[in-house]
Amino acid sequence: MKTILVTGGLGYIGSHTVVELINSGYEPIIVDNLSNTSIDVLNRIEQISHKKCVFYQIDVCDKVALSSVFEKHIIDSIIHFAAFKAVGESVEQPLKYYQNNIGGLITLLEVMQEKGIKNIVFSSSCTVYGEPDSSPVNELSPIKKASSPYGNTKQIGEEILTDCGFLNCVALRYFNPIGAHSTALIGELPLGVPNNLMPYITQTAIGIREQLTVFGNDYNTPDGTCIRDYIHVVDLANAHVKALKFIETHPDNLFDVFNIGTGEGYTVLDIVNMFEKENNITLKYKIGPKRAGDVEKVWADNSKAKTQLQWQANHTLVDMVKSAWKWQLALQESK
Ligand code: WQD
Repeated sequence: MKTILVTGGLGYIGSHTVVELINSGYEPIIVDNLSNTSIDVLNRIEQISHKKCVFYQIDVCDKVALSSVFEKHIIDSIIHFAAFKAVGESVEQPLKYYQNNIGGLITLLEVMQEKGIKNIVFSSSCTVYGEPDSSPVNELSPIKKASSPYGNTKQIGEEILTDCGFLNCVALRYFNPIGAHSTALIGELPLGVPNNLMPYITQTAIGIREQLTVFGNDYNTPDGTCIRDYIHVVDLANAHVKALKFIETHPDNLFDVFNIGTGEGYTVLDIVNMFEKENNITLKYKIGPKRAGDVEKVWADNSKAKTQLQWQANHTLVDMVKSAWKWQLALQESK
């Protein structure tokens, strides 16, 4: 059984990936500093997978603590999620983002080099494309100047990984992950006011937020609101399992990138309308000003991941909006 170190493994995407790793016969070792999640997520992963997971509360910037994990376990590959990811916050606190996201990656890579470990799956983002000239974007689409320090940490991260010749690395460029595990035991757990669309929708629907503000409706799109490629978090989690298998079967690979999106673009109002229809809810929202840093439209050409990773998205937009609501209801009940 191959052992996979999952940094940020109690986070939104990390926790769903740990479940899929276990389903696929891997042994995950979870490292998380709990800065943006709760230790309860570990219990919930165990409830879903019926397996106790090894967990270390460690900050990936702490080289001594991180190294100690490699002394206790024989690690075959690493999936690196641990990073801050709020676009708006990164504009207000750029050094916090560079220190954590870049510093943490460098620390991890130093330890990997010292321990002779080369296999890594890196959590990247479609934000590296900035405002694309056209969509769908493929992996050869131009990398634009990042619209935020967060996006820049992903671009720099990919460049660092490309330059480290000792690695066998796959970077996954996520589009917009939403939804939750079918058990409603794990899902998105935004601390404080959500930055992202879906948790703001579900918190509005359940009454935690007064109303949703749709950031602009005069974009050059069918209904004037921005277009994104929303992907179910479980489909995204499974892309990581496929990326591991790619690394395992391509030992001479140095660095490769794959878009992980459904290939479909939906506007903000499409999502709002689908959420209302599928959950039989009337959502209170208003149109507000555009949000700084937002791109108008971006969605994926995912053909490279389909052919080379043998991956595809199986969940529909209906699954996404229903599972997101089921998760919000479960959160409310658990209070
Ligand atoms: C989506 C759309 C907003 C909130 C995210 C992550 C980023 C990256 C890509 C992984 C936009 C609109 C939002 C609200 C709104 N993922 N919106 N009202 O900005 O595409 O970026 O996905 O790396 O880390 O942040 O996602 O959910 O914030 O916004 O109208 O209250 O919803 O304007 O058009 P975004 P988002």
